[in-house]
Amino acid sequence: MRLHIADHPLVAHKLTVLRDRGTDSPTFRRLADELVTLLTYEATRDVRTAEVAITTPVGPTTGTHLTSPKPLVVPILRAGLGMLDGMTRMLPTAEVGFLGMIRDEETLQATTYANRLPDDLSGRQCYVLDPMLATGGTLAAAIAYLFERGADDVTAITLLAAPEGLEALRQAIGDDDRVQVVTAAVDERLDENGYIVPGLGDAGDRLYGVV
Ligand code: URA
Repeated sequence: MRLHIADHPLVAHKLTVLRDRGTDSPTFRRLADELVTLLTYEATRDVRTAEVAITTPVGPTTGTHLTSPKPLVVPILRAGLGMLDGMTRMLPTAEVGFLGMIRDEETLQATTYANRLPDDLSGRQCYVLDPMLATGGTLAAAIAYLFERGADDVTAITLLAAPEGLEALRQAIGDDDRVQVVTAAVDERLDENGYIVPGLGDAGDRLYGVV
C-alpha cells in the first residue's frame, strides 16, 4: 500500500479551518470541496492517459487525454458525498458508483447497506472517497469489494487518517501496490470512541447536520 500525505500550505490552511469547531456547515462543505480538489490533483498522478494528435491554431502537436475505461469515483455514503463534487470537477468524465457503509458505534465494524456500482469493474481505476480513515474497517471492506468486482487499482482519498487505521489497512492489504491512500494529514491517534484525535469531529454531522 502506498501512502501520500499532501504537504502543502493551502491544504494545511483549509484543514485547519475544517478542524475548528466554530466553522459552520456551509463553510465546512465549501472547504471540504476545495480541499478534495487539491487532493485529487495528487491522487490522479497515475490516472491512465494516452497520446492524442491535435492541431492548435498554429500547427499540429501531440497531447494527452484520459483513456477508457473511464475512472470510477466511489463516495462512501454519507460523508463521502461531501467530497464528490470536488473530485468530479477535476475528473468530469469519470463515472460515479455509490457504496453505503456504516460502522457500528460499539463494535466499530463496517457493514454495507447500499451498493450501486457497475457489475464488472475489470480494468477500472477506482477512487474511493471517505473523509475519515479512522479504524480502517470501512475502507478495507470497500477496497476488498472493488477488487472482488475486478478493479485494477484503488486510490482512497481521505481528509484525515489515524495511524491505527493506516496500520489496519496495511495489515488487510499487505504490500499490494495497487492500493494508494492520499490524505491531507495523519493525526495523532483514535480515542476510545473511534474518533480521530485531534481530528475534526464527525465529518457527516459537520457536513450535513446531526442525525
Ligand atoms: N468518523 C468521523 O466522522 N470522525 C472521526 O473522527 C472518525 C470517524
